Amino acid sequence: MAEFDFDTVIERRGSGALKYDELGNRYGNPDLLPLWVADMDFAVPPAVTKALVDRMMHPIYGYAAPTPAYWQSIIGWLKRRHDFDVTTDELRYIPGVVKGIGFVVNYFTRPGDKVLIQPPVYHPFRLVPQDNGRKIVENPLLFDGSSYRMDLDGLAEVVEREKPRLMILCNPHNPIGLQWDADTLRRVAEICHKAGVIVISDEIHSDLMLWGKKHVTFASVSPEAAEISITMGAPSKTFNIAGLVSSWVIIKNPELREGFFGWMRANEFDDPTFVATIATEAAYNHGGEWLDQLISYLEGNVVAVEEYLAAEIPSIKAIRPEASFLLWLDCRALGLSHDELNALFVDKAGLALNDGEMFGREGAGFMRFNIGAPRSVILKALARLKSAVDSLPRK
Ligand SMILES: Cc1ncc(COP(=O)(O)O)c(C=O)c1O
Repeated sequence: MAEFDFDTVIERRGSGALKYDELGNRYGNPDLLPLWVADMDFAVPPAVTKALVDRMMHPIYGYAAPTPAYWQSIIGWLKRRHDFDVTTDELRYIPGVVKGIGFVVNYFTRPGDKVLIQPPVYHPFRLVPQDNGRKIVENPLLFDGSSYRMDLDGLAEVVEREKPRLMILCNPHNPIGLQWDADTLRRVAEICHKAGVIVISDEIHSDLMLWGKKHVTFASVSPEAAEISITMGAPSKTFNIAGLVSSWVIIKNPELREGFFGWMRANEFDDPTFVATIATEAAYNHGGEWLDQLISYLEGNVVAVEEYLAAEIPSIKAIRPEASFLLWLDCRALGLSHDELNALFVDKAGLALNDGEMFGREGAGFMRFNIGAPRSVILKALARLKSAVDSLPRK
């Protein structure tokens, strides 16, 4: 069995990478250690590189025709990994999950309609509807000081009171890395089905389940869920190919999908590039072993952060994620204001993390730490953070 290398530090500066080459614009300092936007600093599976290089050696890059093997690679992966049965009729390419959310917002809702989200949550869930003139209604997650869960009673109340047209579910839930179990999802489906709410289930992080946990696809939990769900996902987080734009959407309900898929076709929004199809096919057909090793490596990074924080920076705690490579750091015990906390990370420690408040006001006092990087980089970041925290005046 091949051993894949997640330890080598690969220079990404100057490669046009958002995570690195936008630091100056976003954080005012191009030299920070970037631990923010959700891509990883690992080389993609060798099979993906090989498939792309082989194709690139053919000197004509004309219009592409997605092959049956491309669609089959997605269908096969979802069956093997998640026991999710999908047919080609139910599946379309989309040029990104966020754009897909924008398509759904524009197609299924009107300006002024309400869209329900559960903060703290991936910020485009708020921004895309809001910037399209829709109203956001919220059902915040419940937090007991150390762990989060979904407020199902709150959801029933908000749905009843606000009558949203659409709910955007993050499954698993970024930025905390929460897995939703079948019972929770079934209840979400029951509440939304009864009120005629369509549910986008964003499952882009679902391949990255940690600690042997199993992802539950929302559409598969009940007939109600299948009827109201629009499932979105991609090989992009899983295999670190976000720049290739390779997302997909699945709609089980023929009535829901007919008009929407027709509208996407009319606008050619569902036309993949050949780069996307080639990378997707290679990743899903040949990337399983790489992914299993990546997951073990990420678990090792989580443990390394937990141990370091407990020993050296006890005032910061990591909420253990159940999925993906994003760690939700509870920094509230530092007693800093929003600006002071950001200054601590950026100016004192030289680190670019995501500010917790970008995910909603519930994220105040938290930072999102992208641990999809070689362990040496993670430990370097932690050592910088320790020096910065140690330099704070004692309260
Ligand atoms: C929950 C979630 N959805 C969607 C995306 C982005 O997906 P895409 O690049 O396909 O738009 C991200 C990226 O961080 C994410 O965390």
